[in-house]
Amino acid sequence: MALPFGLGRGSGSDYEACLARMRAPLPDPAGTRDLLRYATLAANGHNTQPWRLRPRADGVDILPDLARRTPVVDPDDHHLWASLGCAAETLGIAARARGLSAEAGFVAHAGEEAIAVDLAPGGAAPADEADLFAAIPQRQSTRSLYDGRPLPAPVVERMTAEAARVGVDLLWFPQGSQAEDVLALVLAGNAAQIDDRAFVAELKSWLRFDAAHAARTGDGLYAAAAGNPTLPPWLGRRMFDLVFRKGPETDKVARQVRSSAGVFVLVAQTNDPAGWAAAGRAYTRAALAATAAGATLAFVNQCVEVPEQRAALRDLLGLGERRPNLVLRVGYAPAMPRSLRRPVEAVLVG
Ligand SMILES: Cc1cc2nc3c(=O)[nH]c(=O)nc-3n(C[C@H](O)[C@H](O)[C@H](O)COP(=O)(O)O)c2cc1C
Repeated sequence: MALPFGLGRGSGSDYEACLARMRAPLPDPAGTRDLLRYATLAANGHNTQPWRLRPRADGVDILPDLARRTPVVDPDDHHLWASLGCAAETLGIAARARGLSAEAGFVAHAGEEAIAVDLAPGGAAPADEADLFAAIPQRQSTRSLYDGRPLPAPVVERMTAEAARVGVDLLWFPQGSQAEDVLALVLAGNAAQIDDRAFVAELKSWLRFDAAHAARTGDGLYAAAAGNPTLPPWLGRRMFDLVFRKGPETDKVARQVRSSAGVFVLVAQTNDPAGWAAAGRAYTRAALAATAAGATLAFVNQCVEVPEQRAALRDLLGLGERRPNLVLRVGYAPAMPRSLRRPVEAVLVG
């Protein structure tokens, strides 16, 4: 049966073609379609790409795709809204690089919640975002061992300032500081998740075991991108059941975090969809700044996804009523194979 949008049986060469299409340089001037393609390069939970993009005369509305929720790991849609924030910020940076003004804001009316990105002819591209823009197709979640090098202070300062530009606090813990305390909560969260059959089943449903499988869907967590061997899906599913065990996974996460320069926690002002989206916007700016400086990142959100560990992290950091939104490790490592995106046509509405 022919599938829409060129998604078909999938092969290794389809993976390469998909990668080339999604990461093609942004034309100048850029049409809406190409700006939206850049927006979809944003980070997003489990690579579900939980967005629907609705262009209008003076901008784009980014709407949640509730069919792509991950209700076990993300029961209140925190990550979903953070993912929409990532797409909005990526779109804004790309649009400004192409001479538009771009303002993103959370909107809720007539029973619909969305992030509205208003676009207008705006003049010169901002010089202080040029490197963020160039980093958009380079940024990735790098789930490997890093080389242990520390992050220079100016890079940390820039990342902190970029998060602050959208009103979010970036709390930085280099190795040798409270990073070990945060790691302990990450590991406790990780163990709780692996003990949770529903969590494991949901995760498994988003795994893509080889390049053909990844290309067929254009979404999900591609095994090679996480440093895992690629296998035919039928075999990959069985191997996953055999090897995804608490002990080895916990050891792996501990080694990965300790190989990083440190961890940081993003904390938005409000604990609601607008605040969650702001956390995603802050991640995007900080991650692009890190990428531009030759560093790389990976989420270690286990300690904000499990309620007990999230409460413990909030107390550890003295956040009061504020919610620790996203947790990342950052450092230096070679790039990994990339995750794919669905074509823009698959996410357009209206
Ligand atoms: C809100 C949010 C939560 C995420 N949580 C995790 C996580 O806990 N563990 C992880 O390895 N990756 C996590 N990711 C990263 C996504 O899996 C990743 O962005 C997606 O697979 C696309 O890959 P890319 O970032 O390399 O483009 C998260 C991303 C977002 C935006």
